[in-house]
Amino acid sequence: MIEIRIRQAEAGDAQGLRDLYAMPKAQKGTLQMPYPTLAMWQKRLAERSGYGLVATVDELLVGDLGLWLEPNPRRRHVAGIGMGVRDDWAGRGVGSALLGAAVDLADNWLNLQRLELTVYSDNAAAIALYRKFGFEQEGGSPAYAFREGNFVDALHMGRVRLP
Ligand SMILES: CC(C)(COP(=O)(O)OP(=O)(O)OC[C@H]1O[C@@H](n2cnc3c(N)ncnc32)[C@H](O)[C@@H]1OP(=O)(O)O)[C@@H](O)C(=O)NCCC(=O)NCCS
Repeated sequence: MIEIRIRQAEAGDAQGLRDLYAMPKAQKGTLQMPYPTLAMWQKRLAERSGYGLVATVDELLVGDLGLWLEPNPRRRHVAGIGMGVRDDWAGRGVGSALLGAAVDLADNWLNLQRLELTVYSDNAAAIALYRKFGFEQEGGSPAYAFREGNFVDALHMGRVRLP
């Protein structure tokens, strides 16, 4: 039985995050660029706002999730989500553990009403994960990003929990 632990990201996680997002599937599913540097991740970690959760298995960083709180007071009930799991740990429950922790944080500790995210239309694994936690498709953007030599479409998904 694998024990997946969730905690907030720390300054020492830069290397683990760099390694995760240097992997082909993690890059393909996100907006990360090839050849990420350690310095870039150190800077991102230092400047990160909101909540940065990481998943670890035996001290190896296997997953990452960012929950960005909206600065505009009229959107203080909203947070955006972005996440990634190491290619060699995909399909083993890491994404579910991370998103479960983020939804618990949003519902039970931050009292957020709306979570939103963007996902490439061909990312079946991510779409299945988001649906599992109550996200629904709200719209789409053709040619949202450039990836591996082609434009790729994206879906916008949201999870709304009104009082
Ligand atoms: C998408 C991603 C976050 C999913 O995380 P994961 O750890 O692989 O997900 P889990 O193992 O918790 O599986 C979650 C659900 O998705 C489903 N799923 C997993 N892989 C799938 C696949 N290839 N196709 C369809 N559904 C899939 C599973 O059925 C599972 O549901 P279940 O627990 O009811 O069986 C992860 O694969 C990843 O980081 N990929 C690369 C980067 C990326 O795409 N990030 C998301 C950006 S929007």
